[in-house]
Amino acid sequence: MTAPNSLDVAGLAYAYPDGHQALFGVDFTVGRGERVALLGPNGAGKTTLVLHLNGILTAGAGSVTVAGLAVGKRHMAEIRRKVGIVFQDPDDQLFMPTVREDVAFGPAAAGMKGAELEGRVRTALELVGMADFADRPPHHLSFGQRRRVAVATVLAMEPEILVLDEPSSNLDPASRRELADILRSLDVTVLMVTHDLPYALELCPRALILSEGVIAADGPTGELLADDALMRAHRLELPFGFDPRSVSTARTS
Ligand SMILES: Nc1ncnc2c1ncn2[C@@H]1O[C@H](COP(=O)(O)OP(=O)(O)OP(=O)(O)O)[C@@H](O)[C@H]1O
Ligand SMILES: [Mg+2]
Repeated sequence: MTAPNSLDVAGLAYAYPDGHQALFGVDFTVGRGERVALLGPNGAGKTTLVLHLNGILTAGAGSVTVAGLAVGKRHMAEIRRKVGIVFQDPDDQLFMPTVREDVAFGPAAAGMKGAELEGRVRTALELVGMADFADRPPHHLSFGQRRRVAVATVLAMEPEILVLDEPSSNLDPASRRELADILRSLDVTVLMVTHDLPYALELCPRALILSEGVIAADGPTGELLADDALMRAHRLELPFGFDPRSVSTARTS
C-alpha cells in the first residue's frame, strides 16, 4: 500500500462569523514528501486556509484530511501532532522561559518525558542550528533566531506536514538562505505560504495560486512564475530584474 497523501483538501469553503466569505471551494492534494508553495495576493485566503489545516478554524463546507485522518473534533489531538504550523510571528509561538522548554512543550504535552523528551528536543534544535541556545530565554534572541526556534518547536512533534506562513519575512539574506538550507535538508512534507517568489522557486518544485478564495493555478513553480498573464491576473509580481527562467528549479529532494 502506498502512503496516503499528507494533505487532501476538498470543496473547502469558509465564511467568517461576520459573514465575510474567504474560501469558495478549495481543492488540492499534497503527496507525502512534496514541497509546495502557496502563493496569492493579500486577502486571497491563504492564512484562512492554513488555519483549517489543524482545525483552528473548521470548514463551513468541504473537508480537510491529513494523512488519511479527517480534521475535526474527533481526532484533534492527533491532528495537532501531525500538522506543524509555523506562524508568521514567532512570538505567537514562543512563551516559555527557555528555548529548551518551548521546544519540549508540545512533545511533553503529548506525554513524552525523560531521556526520550531530551533527545527529541536536542534533535529538533540541532536541525535548526540552535542547540547552543537551549538555555536562553527566547525573548532575548534575534528575530531570525526566534524564527528558527519556532521551526524547532514544530519539528519536535515530528509532524506529517510542516506548514510555514511567510517563513522568509523579516530575515536578513544570510538567515533567509540558512532557513532554506534547513527546509531543504528536512525529510518532511512542506506547504509554504509566501510572497517571496524567488524563495518559492528555490524551495518548492510545485506551487498553488490561491486567489479570491479558490485555487487559480496548480503546477510547476517555474512555469507559473514565467506565465506573465497568470501572474498579472493574480497580482503577483516578481522582484525587479528577476527572471524565473534563469534559475535552476527546485528539485524534490
Ligand atoms: N477574523 C476575520 N473576520 C472577518 N474577515 C476576515 C477575518 N480574517 C480575515 N478575513 C478576511 O478574509 C479574507 C482572507 O484573509 P486571509 O488573512 O486569509 O488572507 P491572506 O491570503 O492570508 O492575505 P495576506 O497575504 O495579506 O496574509 C480577507 O478578505 C480578510 O479581510
Ligand atoms: Mg496571511
